[in-house]
Amino acid sequence: MLETERPDLSLSPLTRSAAAELHNLLQQNRGHLTAHGDYAEQVAMSRDQVEAELAADSANLRFGIVLSGTLIGRIDLIAADPPKYGLGYWLAKNATGQGYATAALRALIGHAGTELHATQIYAGVTRGNARSEALLERLGFLPVLDFDSYRRFHLGLR
Ligand SMILES: CC(C)(COP(=O)(O)OP(=O)(O)OC[C@H]1O[C@@H](n2cnc3c(N)ncnc32)[C@H](O)[C@@H]1OP(=O)(O)O)[C@@H](O)C(=O)NCCC(=O)NCCS
Repeated sequence: MLETERPDLSLSPLTRSAAAELHNLLQQNRGHLTAHGDYAEQVAMSRDQVEAELAADSANLRFGIVLSGTLIGRIDLIAADPPKYGLGYWLAKNATGQGYATAALRALIGHAGTELHATQIYAGVTRGNARSEALLERLGFLPVLDFDSYRRFHLGLR
């Protein structure tokens, strides 16, 4: 469990026991999560497929974003090429606009720096996803490369 700066908000490692809750949340947020073309694969998964994904060995860190005991989103630290890491993140629609993603990402980035000795963090944002770009910029990320369909952001940790 990772604490965040918000006392009611924590990051909890996602294990197969969270599959049903995660699957429900994905189904309730289908339109929100796929609005920019992302997360179509996660949204299309059956409950069993979600469970299999969470049970599979992975070098990536998978966390649920938990508000007062309720799952409100997911955040992944992707071990792309350690000490370089990537990020994936989403919130349920009704949990947006309150700073939860900012606090969750800040906690995970802190963990990556202190515990995993990460030096670089990257995130790719699909064109048109202004909220995701604003989130990264709040955390100090800078745009470094434009691709046809997405923009790459970077944060140096040391
Ligand atoms: C990307 C995503 C996580 C951003 O969510 P978000 O709600 O904008 O981000 P935060 O939770 O940090 O909240 C920021 C908002 O809360 C407000 N806020 C309130 N208290 C705050 C605090 N203590 N700290 C930071 N922001 C705070 C901010 O002003 C901002 O408000 P705004 O929406 O009016 O600009 C969300 O839009 C999402 O899940 N989208 C679908 C999936 C997706 O696109 N994922 C990213 C793929 S690259």
